[in-house]
Amino acid sequence: MRDCIPPVERLVITLWYLATGQSLASLHFAFLIGKSTASMVVRETCVAIWDVLHPAVMAQPQREDWLQIADIFLQSCNFPNCVSAIDGKHIRVKKPIRSGSQFFNYKKYFSFVLFAVCDANYCFRYIDVGSYGSSSDSAVLGHSAFGQMLNNNELDLPGNTTLPGTTYPAMPFVFVGDEAFALGEHLMRPYFIRGLSIARRVFNYRLTRARRVVECAFGILANKWSFLHSPIHLKLETAISAVKAACVLHNFVRVRDGFNFEDSLSHSLESPNPSGVRGTRHGAAVRDHFTAYFYHHMGRYHGNWKPSKFMLIYILLMKRLFKY
Ligand SMILES: *[C@@H]1O[C@H](CO)[C@@H](O)[C@H](O)[C@H]1NC(C)=O
Repeated sequence: MRDCIPPVERLVITLWYLATGQSLASLHFAFLIGKSTASMVVRETCVAIWDVLHPAVMAQPQREDWLQIADIFLQSCNFPNCVSAIDGKHIRVKKPIRSGSQFFNYKKYFSFVLFAVCDANYCFRYIDVGSYGSSSDSAVLGHSAFGQMLNNNELDLPGNTTLPGTTYPAMPFVFVGDEAFALGEHLMRPYFIRGLSIARRVFNYRLTRARRVVECAFGILANKWSFLHSPIHLKLETAISAVKAACVLHNFVRVRDGFNFEDSLSHSLESPNPSGVRGTRHGAAVRDHFTAYFYHHMGRYHGNWKPSKFMLIYILLMKRLFKY
């Protein structure tokens, strides 16, 4: 019976499911197919979507691509040498069969983690899907192929480059993440919030601005592919395939279509368990240098970056106070 469903119809059924999140049983009424057939169709089609689109819209960036990404981060977020923002989110699932507590996260529901590396155009450049919900962001990154390549310097990142308007020193290219990640030579995270100097606050502000693109990307993703809004009632492997398919579809749509700005502002995905992480000394030195740079170049804007009204007042105030 299911062999008779033509490919176009399979695609329609799958897109319908991903976009509406309606139960597979309801597909029975819309498409006159049984629940097990629907589940089979969704599983096979999601795998096919990933296989076909992944090399086309989420190929691993090469040196030239990283430089392009960094250029757009500089234009739109005023953060130089930034090659992507990284973050992880919980994807809720109904309890996986025969699972222990690994999928039971600290917020007390079953989930797995979607870890993503996102450029300033809200496209995913790399994803890792399916780590246990009980893992922290840092653990997810460490276990991902991306994390390993980052540690082993295998990402083909461009060499150290001086920051705009400076001639010294050459600085590494960096990813930006939140508190859940460990500081590293190529990974910037905010300073701990307590008792911060003004320079460090400015750094945190800049970092947060750049990091926000990945939050927005998750928002656009979940609002277009509504099945992400509620616990996914699919077998674990199928749910993972569905999330991977949604991510490449997101990129596919992003480069052809705009997005609704409102969608980028809210979503129901939650962050993994923050956990204590230690950074490297190298990382600390790089971050301190960015901090000094932002502080001393505070009034200069690159590209079309517009500071918020609050930031402008802040900068004017500091210029006045410190005769900068
Ligand atoms: C790049 O800069 C970092 C931090 O200043 C430094 O530790 C590293 O050795 C530099 N790498 C190269 C290849 O020069």
